Amino acid sequence: MPSHYSPFMDAPDLLILGALALGGFLWLSRGRGDDSGQTSAVDPREAARVAKTPNARSLVAKLEQDGKDMLVLYGSQTGTAEDYAGRLVKDAVKYGLHALALDPEDIDVEELAKVPATKLVVFVLATYGEGEPTDNAVALNEYLSQQYEEFRNADPDDKPLRNLHYAVFGLGNKTYELFNAMARNIDKWCTALGATRIGPCGEGDDDANMEEDFGRWRETVWPEFAQFYGINLAAEAAKAAAAGLSRSFTLVDHEEMPSIVYRGELGDRSHTTYDAKKPFMARIVATRELFSGKEVPVRNCVHVELDLTGSKLIYQPGDHLAIWPQNQQHDVDMLSLALELTHRLDNVFSLTSTDPAATKRHPFPCPTTYRAAFTHYLDIAVPPKPHILQAWLPHIADPATRAIYARLTGDKAAYAAEITDHHTTVAELLLKHPIVPPLPLDVVFESFTRIQPRYYSISSSPRYLGNPNRVHITATVLRYESTAKNKSVHGLCTRHLLDLHEQLQRDPAAAISVPVAIRHASFKLPRQNATPVIMIGPGTGVAPFRGFVQERCAIVAKAKSSTSAIPPAPLGDALLFFGCRHEQHDFLYASEWPEYLAQGGLTELITAFSRDTDKKVYVQHRLAEHGDRVWDLVRKGAHVYVCGDARNMARDVHWWFVEAAMTRGGLSEEKAERFVKDMRTKGRYLEDVWA
Ligand SMILES: Cc1cc2nc3c(=O)[nH]c(=O)nc-3n(C[C@H](O)[C@H](O)[C@H](O)COP(=O)(O)OP(=O)(O)OC[C@H]3O[C@@H](n4cnc5c(N)ncnc54)[C@H](O)[C@@H]3O)c2cc1C
Ligand SMILES: NC(=O)c1ccc[n+]([C@@H]2O[C@H](COP(=O)([O-])OP(=O)(O)OC[C@H]3O[C@@H](n4cnc5c(N)ncnc54)[C@H](OP(=O)(O)O)[C@@H]3O)[C@@H](O)[C@H]2O)c1
Ligand SMILES: Cc1cc2nc3c(=O)[nH]c(=O)nc-3n(C[C@H](O)[C@H](O)[C@H](O)COP(=O)(O)O)c2cc1C
Repeated sequence: MPSHYSPFMDAPDLLILGALALGGFLWLSRGRGDDSGQTSAVDPREAARVAKTPNARSLVAKLEQDGKDMLVLYGSQTGTAEDYAGRLVKDAVKYGLHALALDPEDIDVEELAKVPATKLVVFVLATYGEGEPTDNAVALNEYLSQQYEEFRNADPDDKPLRNLHYAVFGLGNKTYELFNAMARNIDKWCTALGATRIGPCGEGDDDANMEEDFGRWRETVWPEFAQFYGINLAAEAAKAAAAGLSRSFTLVDHEEMPSIVYRGELGDRSHTTYDAKKPFMARIVATRELFSGKEVPVRNCVHVELDLTGSKLIYQPGDHLAIWPQNQQHDVDMLSLALELTHRLDNVFSLTSTDPAATKRHPFPCPTTYRAAFTHYLDIAVPPKPHILQAWLPHIADPATRAIYARLTGDKAAYAAEITDHHTTVAELLLKHPIVPPLPLDVVFESFTRIQPRYYSISSSPRYLGNPNRVHITATVLRYESTAKNKSVHGLCTRHLLDLHEQLQRDPAAAISVPVAIRHASFKLPRQNATPVIMIGPGTGVAPFRGFVQERCAIVAKAKSSTSAIPPAPLGDALLFFGCRHEQHDFLYASEWPEYLAQGGLTELITAFSRDTDKKVYVQHRLAEHGDRVWDLVRKGAHVYVCGDARNMARDVHWWFVEAAMTRGGLSEEKAERFVKDMRTKGRYLEDVWA
């Protein structure tokens, strides 16, 4: 084991810490930094705990607390990197090391320069946007990029991270142009700032098999970590195993009703700011089904209008709305049955981290009821990954049952046949292969990740609606057959939105709210109204363009009503390329486009119906047909916007522009690619795409 480092802190540090502790306490009291601050009152025990913590944001203090050997900083938007960070911490525990996973937003990133040379900082970072950091890693990204600019050419002795030892695993998707940009940049910057990387930089590809990429990287880096710490992995694992199973959480059933019980609420109207860590409960004011006719198989696309009154949230067309879904009652009932909790669903319990240094004391708001945890907090409707089943094995007493589960963890084909192909959930698995005596509940709860928000491209303009508090989204309901064709699987959030729509159809006066947050994006109309725009959005990809076109209609209306002596600059042309399967079934907002054309917000709508003729017609075919016009607008400085499917459509459209630059612009392939790349760099070719 490494020797633990240096005196805890010197006097000036302690003074600063005192001030920071107060600041940190006040900051946390506002409810940021811990997800339990979601009811109207601050949990007094939580406040007391934070007050006792030397400095809730100090990286160094966290390292020194309990003699941590490793910190894992995760940049995560939808939870995968956070989950991986947790798994690295578990690896560390297995090898007798002390480790802690941290959200970089919860710490002072400048303290990376103060991390002692005996410790290891592991970055587990997803890439978002177009090669950008996740929201929670923005400050980390900014800090390291600034340091890089300032110190990249400094003498080795002056490099600020010369003591830092780090490792890095990136989560990305090769579908995106800037694959794993975040991990690659952080690695480059850390090295240039004098830090030493331990092990290779890992890169996971969500388009292939991220789980396997992560598994391979762990197998490679752990021996290197062992060398760094001077430990023998096998010996440490044997020691830790002999010392007994370590648990990440303690579960306590509350016999008496605590003063605060979380029942799934994620928004709190007594707080004045709302964001992804503190969503706002927005009332759904209207919904409608956008698909029509009898398409087989049945598909749904729900238009949802929400009210942000009281949230102080503002948005512009091009931004995203995050929505937190909840589980289906059927899945809650099934899990309760599998865990023999049906009669205790409304009992109150708390799940608390066994690590006192953890910033997230509870994995979800606690105390809470089992019903609330299963409905609102835990992602219970997804199949358990093999490492989850692996973690169950030591808790399965019966050898025959243990053999069944061991096979699922060790045999890929068995796992696929039993779990993946049938989309088997934890509840279904436990009902099929009961574990007697049952697994400890804290172990079961660790099997689930927290329900993550889903993002939707906002499909309205507040100016056009004349109401800054109204926001619209357009959600296609995800539904597919399991590989074994025995189960129809629904997307969690879109199924929930469909249910809410149906509920409102039955009872239009029903008061229904969902937790939401706004994510500001760089997908925006040009600053100059005169700049032409070319919008390409098949399917749900048309969502942000409804917002763009509405916004332009509002600009036209304002210009018409203006009494100013100076006439406003004319609006540039706006072409919209929209594609769907059938004109009669999924032509989104078909009745609205003529109005926008008449109002002058849209110059031309060009449609591609892919399944109405023998030959597929896609938006890129229409781009080709209108190539002269499109290219003319590009030459005049048009901004190109692409939204929707990242995997195929966005790539094909990108290539259409490269080819146009060759055939119409007379450029070589290399120069044409550079031309489109330049458009991207200059913010003239923007994508809002998802895989
Ligand atoms: C920036 C951004 C903007 C977006 N804008 C919109 C929008 O405007 N409208 C819209 O409808 N959606 C939009 N999405 C997608 C949206 O966020 C959700 O991903 C989508 O609604 C599905 O969520 P869900 O909860 O219903 O499905 P989930 O429960 O999250 O299920 C999705 C998962 O199901 C799995 N899956 C999907 N299809 C299959 C299949 N055929 N076989 C096996 N597994 C499969 C995949 O693992 C996938 O990750 C956007 C996404 C992003 C990132
Ligand atoms: N992450 C998620 O879970 C999630 C959720 C929602 C949507 N999506 C993705 O987002 C995309 C849009 O979804 P949607 O349901 O709104 O769209 P959709 O209805 O499936 O497709 C819209 C239109 O795009 C066409 N198309 C297919 N491949 C294309 C290509 N390479 N280039 C241009 N057009 C192409 C389709 O034609 P054909 O179908 O006739 O070939 C259809 O006419 C889908 O690709 C879907 O995979 C992902
Ligand atoms: C809107 C969006 C943009 C993305 N942009 C990139 C990108 O530019 N480069 C990349 O390698 N991966 C990109 N990805 C893939 C994510 O990094 C990947 O899915 C990752 O597993 C997400 O991790 P998380 O769940 O921790 O947020 C993007 C994903 C989405 C949904």
